[in-house]
Amino acid sequence: RGVCSSARRLQGCMSAWVIDQYGSNEVLKFSEETPAPTVSSPSEVMVKVHATSLNPLDVAMRGGYGAKLLNLRRDPLSVVNGDSEFPLILGRDVSGVVVDCGSEVTHFVPGDEVWAAVPPWKQGSLAEFVTLTEFEVSHKPRSISHAEAASIPYVASTALSALVNAGGLCKERADEKRVLIIGGSGGIGTFSVQLLKAWGAHVTVTCSQNAEGLVRGLGADQVVNYSAGDVAEQLESMERFDVILDGVGRETEQWALGLLKPWSGAKYVTLVTPLLQDTDSRGWLSGMFQAGFSLHNTAFQSAIVNGVFYRWAFYAPDGPALDEVRELVDAGKILPVVEAQFPFTQVPQAFQKLEEGHARGKTVVRVAEEDDKRQGEEMAESEQGFQQTAERE
Ligand SMILES: NC(=O)c1ccc[n+]([C@@H]2O[C@H](COP(=O)([O-])OP(=O)(O)OC[C@H]3O[C@@H](n4cnc5c(N)ncnc54)[C@H](OP(=O)(O)O)[C@@H]3O)[C@@H](O)[C@H]2O)c1
Ligand SMILES: *[C@@H]1O[C@H](CO)[C@@H](O)[C@H](O)[C@H]1NC(C)=O
Repeated sequence: RGVCSSARRLQGCMSAWVIDQYGSNEVLKFSEETPAPTVSSPSEVMVKVHATSLNPLDVAMRGGYGAKLLNLRRDPLSVVNGDSEFPLILGRDVSGVVVDCGSEVTHFVPGDEVWAAVPPWKQGSLAEFVTLTEFEVSHKPRSISHAEAASIPYVASTALSALVNAGGLCKERADEKRVLIIGGSGGIGTFSVQLLKAWGAHVTVTCSQNAEGLVRGLGADQVVNYSAGDVAEQLESMERFDVILDGVGRETEQWALGLLKPWSGAKYVTLVTPLLQDTDSRGWLSGMFQAGFSLHNTAFQSAIVNGVFYRWAFYAPDGPALDEVRELVDAGKILPVVEAQFPFTQVPQAFQKLEEGHARGKTVVRVAEEDDKRQGEEMAESEQGFQQTAERE
């Protein structure tokens, strides 16, 4: 298959799951004739995808979420000449092997095992190959497989952006901080709990009753399960927090800000923001927001209320941040939490799993099975942690 796929690559084609229109799961199509990416700038690397994982953003983008804003970002000229974003490839995570490098790439050579989060304005990783700039890519942790590694980059980049840039936390001073994670059992939550514990913070988490064991196992100091009654009430009886990371949103905003320490720089950081939705429904805003969004590293600081900050946070591409995460993974301080794995032939089933909600960690898609089986045999002894590999084949 390796030979066959590289022969096709020379002809400019690859296998990928693409969409030609926005919609529900039926719009996902498998195509062996998808134009393969090329290294088109000196700082780009091309990666052969071994595994990817799905995020709620993939489901949202399949339905057209963010289309206006992301198209502007994708190719400013397309606005002028009306070019289409289709065929569009979804998939934001990648663990794989570098196959080609631009002339100015200094940190990677072909053959390197890497992981990365693919920015939403680029073609995604539900494909044999993906190109990224060097600065978006990082060497993959050696202690875990491609399938495990693919579960981490997008949630890690988002969590770091939220906790560091918007939340003002840093690993050196996190041990003085009390952090609340609203929604601890999904991709963002299971990563963030482990990161914050690795940094020495005190971590409180909300989740469903049947996720309490998982979240405690990842190191959470206090868990409030929402099955047991009024979450806000239970949290109010606790000591106040320095930072709240909200991955649930909506009605949580009514009570969460009141749980912060007043007048001490405490921050409520939410990942559930109306930005991309607004620009889809209100096109006239898109230009304005594009300016804001191109500062994608910057958190929007919208207000100070009652002596606490309210902030939106976004995913931001960051290879160097993934280097730090790699060290924590290889040190056994962060474990991949893979709830389900699907082969590349079952991408619609993987989307369906995600859409059912109630994630307990991540849903992974294995893209290059044969290559990984070989590696898997070598690694079989070193299997780690919280694998609930609910095979759905
Ligand atoms: N702004 C950005 O750039 C950005 C980036 C990444 C993610 N996000 C957003 O952040 C959120 C989390 O992302 P994710 O990848 O972690 O999603 P996910 O993997 O689907 O996890 C969501 C988790 O929240 C739990 N949950 C739902 N309602 C809850 C509640 N009321 N209280 C506590 N837990 C609850 C779910 O389990 P149960 O339903 O069983 O409780 C599930 O485990 C999503 O809304 C996503 O769109 C935003
Ligand atoms: C959920 O919370 C309630 C109230 O705090 C508690 O009695 C119950 O044991 C918790 N469930 C689990 C699974 O820990």
